[in-house]
Amino acid sequence: MRMKIMVIGGGGREHAIIRALRKNRDVETVYALPGNAGMEDTVCVNVAATDLEGVVAFTREHRVDLAVVTPDDPLVLGMVDLLEAEGIPCFGPRRNAAILEGSKVFAKTFMKRWNIPTAAWEVFGDAEAAKDYVQRADLPLVIKADGLALGKGVIIAKTREEALEAVDRIMVQKVFGKSGERVIVEEFLEGPEVTLLTLTDGESLVPLLSSMDHKRAGDGDTGLNTGGMGCIAPNPFYTPQVHRRCMEEICLPTIRGMAAEGRPFRGCLYFGLMLTEKGPKVIEYNCRFGDPEAQTILPLMETDLLQAMLAVTQNRLGEEDIRFSSDSSCCVILASAGYPGKYEKGREITVPGDLLEHVYMAGVAREKGKLVTSGGRVMGVLGRGASLSEAVHQAYARVDRIEFENRQYRRDIGQRALAVTGGK
Ligand code: AMP
Ligand code: GLY
Repeated sequence: MRMKIMVIGGGGREHAIIRALRKNRDVETVYALPGNAGMEDTVCVNVAATDLEGVVAFTREHRVDLAVVTPDDPLVLGMVDLLEAEGIPCFGPRRNAAILEGSKVFAKTFMKRWNIPTAAWEVFGDAEAAKDYVQRADLPLVIKADGLALGKGVIIAKTREEALEAVDRIMVQKVFGKSGERVIVEEFLEGPEVTLLTLTDGESLVPLLSSMDHKRAGDGDTGLNTGGMGCIAPNPFYTPQVHRRCMEEICLPTIRGMAAEGRPFRGCLYFGLMLTEKGPKVIEYNCRFGDPEAQTILPLMETDLLQAMLAVTQNRLGEEDIRFSSDSSCCVILASAGYPGKYEKGREITVPGDLLEHVYMAGVAREKGKLVTSGGRVMGVLGRGASLSEAVHQAYARVDRIEFENRQYRRDIGQRALAVTGGK
């Protein structure tokens, strides 16, 4: 059967998903809403990922055989519920399961109910009570807005002043709007961070490759938090022993708990983990593929992504054998000058033709036939090799051949991991 697929979203992650889906010859047409100007073999449709009515209207005019809903906000808003009501098979959780990312208070109370290890925490619906607690608690503290906040709702406060200011910004100045009606104050955890992406149909859970994102803007993990400036996979801190423990103590209890609460999770469940001295703990759940984690791991996937996604939507993931290459990969993000603050736009981009297949386009647009920058994270550049050091090398050699004015990127993606692998 020749299939028509609709992918919601328009970043590098969606570009990587579309490329992986396109490897299947049964795919006839891919619509991306809104997609971006750098996506090949894709029909980009000018409907925003959060425009629920617009997306439903599009599917009434264009029959699609599968919808892949990728970004957090449409998932949390319930796009999958609406599309399923139209009879469209969807890869992505329903609203009642996406709440695992949509409300940190839900996620924390859920982990408490199911005894899943996470940082100690308190929740406050009142600024004065939160400030009172922050005056007494041990430092450093982590302050989190309850709802979605474009990845900016987490503040790590080393001093009481910073903690008080964070509570004030979230709850009094309401910089994240309704997302900040409740605030979580959390214990600061230390250890290497791991992203584990998994596929689940609500009953079975299949781990994909582990990876390590680099969230801060500057080398050596300095500067502001971003959506992610680069990633490597697999993550060498995530050993088979750690994996067994994470599956038993975290991943399986999570999907069982969600199913038992009548919220079966179907889609990609993202476990943000901290490997502390006291064992692995959950920092956050996301209800979707990570960006740039998807760009980093999907090129190493040897099993067909479309088949795996269909198995998820048809509740038969348990029958699938999902395999990855033993190679390593490294994705370096090229960003516009100023990102994650106010950034430049409209710079002309030059990518040599032989590199295009290794580049995942994100914040790009077409102006007078030329590709130009239009977003903060412009593209991800992939390297791959039998060892992590080869992958890192190849990624940076490719970065050197790509041009746009004032591009900004980290020079140290993979260095923390290479310190564990002994430089290999
Ligand atoms: P998030 O926006 O939830 O992805 O969090 C951003 C980053 O903040 C995470 O990737 C961690 O590096 C850091 N973080 C979140 N919670 C904690 C915590 N309890 N202890 C230490 N770091 C944390
Ligand atoms: N790279 C982190 C995220 O996608 O949330």
